[in-house]
Amino acid sequence: MAKEDVRVKNIGLRGVAVADTKISYIDGENGILIYRGYRIEELAERSTFMETAYLLLNGALPSAGQLERFERAVAQAREIPALVLSSLERFPKNASPMDVLQACVPMLGTVDPDLRDTSREANIRHAIRLIALVPAVIAAWHRLRSGEKVLPPDASLPHAANFLWQLTGKRPDLQMAHDFDVCLVLHADHTFNASTFACREVVSTGAHMYAGVAAGVGALSGGLHGGANERVMRMLLQVESEIDSPDKIASWVKNKIDKGEKIAGMGHAVYKTVDPRATILKEISKRLAKETGHEAWYAYLTRIEDEGHKEFAARGKSNIRTNVDFYSGSVYAMMGIPVDIMTPIFAVSRISGWSAHIIEEKFAEAQEKPALYRPEAEYVGHYCGVIGCTYEPVSQRG
Ligand SMILES: CC(C)(COP(=O)(O)OP(=O)(O)OC[C@H]1O[C@@H](n2cnc3c(N)ncnc32)[C@H](O)[C@@H]1OP(=O)(O)O)[C@@H](O)C(=O)NCCC(=O)NCCS
Repeated sequence: MAKEDVRVKNIGLRGVAVADTKISYIDGENGILIYRGYRIEELAERSTFMETAYLLLNGALPSAGQLERFERAVAQAREIPALVLSSLERFPKNASPMDVLQACVPMLGTVDPDLRDTSREANIRHAIRLIALVPAVIAAWHRLRSGEKVLPPDASLPHAANFLWQLTGKRPDLQMAHDFDVCLVLHADHTFNASTFACREVVSTGAHMYAGVAAGVGALSGGLHGGANERVMRMLLQVESEIDSPDKIASWVKNKIDKGEKIAGMGHAVYKTVDPRATILKEISKRLAKETGHEAWYAYLTRIEDEGHKEFAARGKSNIRTNVDFYSGSVYAMMGIPVDIMTPIFAVSRISGWSAHIIEEKFAEAQEKPALYRPEAEYVGHYCGVIGCTYEPVSQRG
């Protein structure tokens, strides 16, 4: 293959397998997502987030006793360390929740009594603490910035319901707790996406789990990755305020694409058809819209989806379809969750996948992986040949 072809093919590592993994699998052509062998639809319908997190971390579904011990360990790890709590009180109130989370993760590491223990068992304990504390930190930050008291965890509530309680101060009803738990299952892992790769790349150097997760949170905050759910919600609110009828959506979509603007929540680096998670979230969005009187949101979203698919197909891009973020924003908004907490919620779930990947990376649990990730780049900068450019002292430069 010509050098230029290799370069184009590998740009952004698209289509390049950089390691083996046993954790999750995507068939992008057929819209299939599998965690440790189980289809996402099966887990969303029959499992829980705690069970799914255990599955991702340990490679098999837990027995009743294993699940109970895991849930208890997570529940017991929810107390935010004093150092982190006092820092949360000091961040500027208008700081982005993702920035606050990214700053807090290494702080949690500094007070982890096992930080220097590099065993697999200690890494599982780090993972359990992070699964417990990422939601606790987000909820506490949201309460503090809103001038409200940080709420203690309620050990009688399941993980997803407890997060909603600590965030909003309201105990969710069973249906809402279940819907939110399903959202966490759907977001738990997604192979070598940008944030997971960031986590793995960092710990491949020998860095600890907290350093890897901090990198993952940073990668997730971007608008092309986790930040897309917030962008969909902002797009929906804008459409609702500017367009008085879903019938005008077709021209709005066309205009946006004509101007070279992105429709948030559409397109995916791997899926070439509808993201299977979007199909499940669409159903939840539909039901919640009816229950909460937000039918207009659902009507606008489905029109944007239909018109977007039509418009992309007309431009020879029929592979640009709705992704996980397209319906998740509306689902969270109908649960009363503020827009800028939507990407942090992605982290509340994805911490399970990140920590599973970090453990796989550290302990070489899949067959093929590099000692250290070290891709190359094509140098296209200034070049004066192998002898190099002649240095001119600053006094002689024009
Ligand atoms: C996710 C995403 C980065 C995937 O990108 P990708 O597969 O590398 O595809 P590209 O960004 O190279 O896009 C290919 C073409 O489709 C267009 N395109 C892709 N997604 C689009 C979208 N959501 N809206 C409008 N145009 C889009 C691009 O502008 C590009 O057009 P061009 O060939 O004329 O330059 C991209 O689809 C996107 O930005 N989507 C919106 C953000 C989003 O929802 N992210 C969450 C992903 S889970």
